Amino acid sequence: MLLNYLLFAGLPAFAQCAPLPDSSKDLLQSLNLPVDEVGATAFSLLYGSPLVGFRQLASTSGILELDGTNVLASHATAANASLHVVVRPNVDTIYSTGAFDLSATDVVVTLPPMEDDRFYLFGFYDPYGDLFATLGSVSSSTPGRYLLRATDASCDGYEGCITSPTSIGMLLIRVEIKNNTTDVTKVAAYLSKSSLFPVNSHEPFNPPLIAADFADLSNSTALSTLEMTARLQSRAPPETARFQHAVPAILALAGIRNGSYHQPACVNLTLASALVEAAVTTFTEAPSSYPDLGNGWSVLNNTYSGSFEYGAAVVARAIVAAALYLQVTPANALYPTLGSTQTTLTDSEAYLFTFSGRPPVASNGFWSLTMYDDAGYLVANAENTYAVGDRSNITFADGDLVYNDYDGAADGTFQVLVQDAGVPPPSNWTANWLPAPAGGGSFTVTFRLYAPTAALSDGSYVYPLVTKVNAITA
Ligand SMILES: *[C@@H]1O[C@H](CO)[C@@H](O)[C@H](O)[C@H]1NC(C)=O
Ligand SMILES: *[C@@H]1O[C@H](CO)[C@@H](O)[C@H](O)[C@H]1NC(C)=O
Ligand SMILES: *[C@@H]1O[C@H](CO)[C@@H](O)[C@H](O)[C@H]1NC(C)=O
Ligand SMILES: *[C@@H]1O[C@H](CO)[C@@H](O)[C@H](O)[C@H]1NC(C)=O
Ligand SMILES: *[C@@H]1O[C@H](CO)[C@@H](O)[C@H](O)[C@H]1NC(C)=O
Ligand SMILES: *[C@@H]1O[C@H](CO)[C@@H](O)[C@H](O)[C@H]1NC(C)=O
Ligand SMILES: *[C@@H]1O[C@H](CO)[C@@H](O)[C@H](O)[C@H]1NC(C)=O
Ligand SMILES: *[C@@H]1O[C@H](CO)[C@@H](O)[C@H](O)[C@H]1NC(C)=O
Ligand SMILES: *[C@@H]1O[C@H](CO)[C@@H](O)[C@H](O)[C@H]1NC(C)=O
Repeated sequence: MLLNYLLFAGLPAFAQCAPLPDSSKDLLQSLNLPVDEVGATAFSLLYGSPLVGFRQLASTSGILELDGTNVLASHATAANASLHVVVRPNVDTIYSTGAFDLSATDVVVTLPPMEDDRFYLFGFYDPYGDLFATLGSVSSSTPGRYLLRATDASCDGYEGCITSPTSIGMLLIRVEIKNNTTDVTKVAAYLSKSSLFPVNSHEPFNPPLIAADFADLSNSTALSTLEMTARLQSRAPPETARFQHAVPAILALAGIRNGSYHQPACVNLTLASALVEAAVTTFTEAPSSYPDLGNGWSVLNNTYSGSFEYGAAVVARAIVAAALYLQVTPANALYPTLGSTQTTLTDSEAYLFTFSGRPPVASNGFWSLTMYDDAGYLVANAENTYAVGDRSNITFADGDLVYNDYDGAADGTFQVLVQDAGVPPPSNWTANWLPAPAGGGSFTVTFRLYAPTAALSDGSYVYPLVTKVNAITA
């Protein structure tokens, strides 16, 4: 052993061939990856792929260029069919985002007071999309000033302290909107009272996060992922003891060293990407990954929703980041999906979603079914109805409102009609109508349940039965 070290001393070209520690071998084997440069590259791709989402939010959408770090940018308008900046925008909340960088300062986060019946969530994420802390309505956080830190700075004088596992990350604030008119103005005012500002400047222990961190990346997804993983590694290192032992040697074997990526001659990125695909398929096909909820609905196993064992669940983390970067935890929201998330209709067909009763969300929660076209955008229609849910005027079959402030007790079956935007149903269906892309075709309906109650976790709620019927016309 000693001889090996002496032989290789001063021969950096051989450094990557040093034997992997057992913890690294075990980690690769646990994912069915070969213990060599190709397996290490596949691991690095899985490990680093959520950084594509971080780049999109921090750089492509202009946060770093326009605002820099440690400042909030709010998007205080309700989404509509013209919005093509993000895929699958929701029409339930408006939001603010801020990239934080704690390498040279701590940051004060201001949570303003809001009504008791409004859902709001300040989600603190590492760059890989792991939600490490929240302030919000579900946890009944006290309004006030909180200290976000990566050091052991004093919490005196703050409502509380939030310690970030990484020196860089993202704050995403979501606040429910009750309607698309005056309430948007009200929520915009809450967002303008929310803030981030730096305090306690200290000697930087890492280089600052800047737009250049995402500039001049290669065009290939695999290469750019490995380059970003290399560039951000010192600022977003592994978070668990097991990964701190195992991951650096794997990344080094893959060619990620000293902040940059050097592809080993023996690595074919196509082969490494195929191993990533295989790991994703294995995870997706395991019944425990997407527990069945009945009536064709399933949901990502709670273990992996928005939190990934501090980054240890690399496959789930990669899948979630690709589908829904900055997902929240099950205590805050559930996103059940239909067995086949992509749905198809002709203009003479419709789907009926028959609800067994009001979805069980807390009084400060909400639910919605939102329609997206194939590209993931909201579907244009004459009514500008992009979603149907607790804040719509949906009715029971007898015409009574499902949500009626004066008669909160009555509950029972009601139906939502998914039907072509160009084929209007009879007027008693208008409020229950979720228009699908005009002229037929395929689309996705997303079911969001915010502030779910126990009936959703104990399995007693019967999810809506979805049936295909003839279009309902006058
Ligand atoms: C869609 O949203 C944009 C941005 O807020 C706004 O300018 C536009 O008027 C909206 N369109 C409709 C149809 O409401
Ligand atoms: C919109 O929400 C506000 C509460 O912020 C309420 O006062 C107002 O009546 C609502 N408007 C409509 C049209 O529902
Ligand atoms: C990436 O693609 C663009 C357009 O195809 C090309 O102009 C550019 O040179 C490419 N960059 C790299 C680093 O390959
Ligand atoms: C690491 O990278 C820095 C900057 O790119 C460079 O100055 C330094 O020499 C590199 N160190 C090693 C050991 O390669
Ligand atoms: C990489 O592997 C793929 C799939 O096996 C193969 O088609 C391709 O030719 C290989 N590339 C190189 C440069 O060897
Ligand atoms: C969720 O995943 C965990 C960890 O793999 C597993 O122990 C559990 O049984 C799964 N839950 C369900 C409902 O399958
Ligand atoms: C607001 O919502 C109502 C009801 O869904 C819709 O008729 C109206 O067009 C929407 N307004 C905007 C600006 O989106
Ligand atoms: C629900 O009905 C009320 C009263 O007619 C109306 O002001 C409001 O805009 C409607 N909301 C939606 C989402 O259609
Ligand atoms: C509309 O009226 C028809 C006929 O009475 C009834 O079958 C249907 O359930 C009603 N739809 C809604 C959403 O109330």
